[in-house]
Amino acid sequence: MPKILVTGANGQLANEIKVIAPDYSEYQFFFTTKEELPIENTEVVRSFFHKNKIDYCINCAAYTAVDKAESEKEKAFSINADAAGNLADICNAYQTKLIHISTDYVYDGSLKMPLKEENNTQPLNVYGESKLKGEELALANNPSTLIIRTSWVYSSFGNNFVKTMMRLFKEKSEINVINDQIGSPTYAADLAEVIMKFVDEMCQGKAFTGIFNYCNDGITNWFEFANAIRSFTDSSCVINPIETSQYKTAAKRPLYSVLDTSKVRNELQISIPLWKVSLKKCINILNAARINFDSTSPGNERNMHNL
Ligand SMILES: NC(=O)c1ccc[n+]([C@@H]2O[C@H](COP(=O)([O-])OP(=O)(O)OC[C@H]3O[C@@H](n4cnc5c(N)ncnc54)[C@H](OP(=O)(O)O)[C@@H]3O)[C@@H](O)[C@H]2O)c1
Repeated sequence: MPKILVTGANGQLANEIKVIAPDYSEYQFFFTTKEELPIENTEVVRSFFHKNKIDYCINCAAYTAVDKAESEKEKAFSINADAAGNLADICNAYQTKLIHISTDYVYDGSLKMPLKEENNTQPLNVYGESKLKGEELALANNPSTLIIRTSWVYSSFGNNFVKTMMRLFKEKSEINVINDQIGSPTYAADLAEVIMKFVDEMCQGKAFTGIFNYCNDGITNWFEFANAIRSFTDSSCVINPIETSQYKTAAKRPLYSVLDTSKVRNELQISIPLWKVSLKKCINILNAARINFDSTSPGNERNMHNL
């Protein structure tokens, strides 16, 4: 039975892989949290691989605090760059296929057309720099690494834009949201399915290496995204469009980071759900969970998916 290690098990993406894992009963999954397997601890990781003989490692562990990274550069690089490189090295030694997750923030947003894998990278912030370095080290230490760049990730798990908006819609009568950063949201549940499709195909002998871009289909901006979220709720909160220059953040973000997904579509022969269709699915899960929270049985994020 092939063994799959999923790092960063408390994060959005790893939790979505956990949700679909029962559909992949031909694999044995190991989900490890930061406490169980801190990826920057080379010795701990090496001994885990030695003991468990992992076939596929899906590295969902990352330092994802984009603004905080500006003042915690060393920590961001330690987890997103050095640890990714070491993981690739260890995967190489144990003949484990590494699937590493990266970001649209490796691009600078100057090219105003959907970004292909080979387009120029020039991160605007420390988080993006650390993730780009992670890609480079992972590929240098293990040329068979598969990297998936994704963007604007949300899920019913963890903290993300969708959940923040839903909270603000309840707390406030009016909010401001940026309308000049253009991109494509990614429902982590859809990405989880794509990752498992890669694993399935590799298990059947197909080889995939290098970089693949993945996000949901369609293009939007944060203001439009917020409006779509509100349309799936009963909130009457007013959303005002503002420009990036009116909302100061520690980290600079690309004004355009739509990913071109033709490579992943062609190689996996898949169609990708429209972002609004996936958003509705996620909000249905969140709304159902709220009903559960309001009832006598307290819910948690895992059992939302059982409703
Ligand atoms: N979220 C986005 O919008 C976005 C966009 C583009 C790309 N990505 C990439 O997609 C991947 C998955 O992101 P996500 O949204 O699922 O992130 P997430 O929810 O922040 O999850 C990351 C997980 O990694 C864990 N972690 C942090 N440091 C670690 C360490 N040293 N060792 C092991 N685990 C560690 C975190 O634990 P703690 O929470 O306890 O720190 C967290 O559970 C990441 O590579 C991220 O860079 C994300």
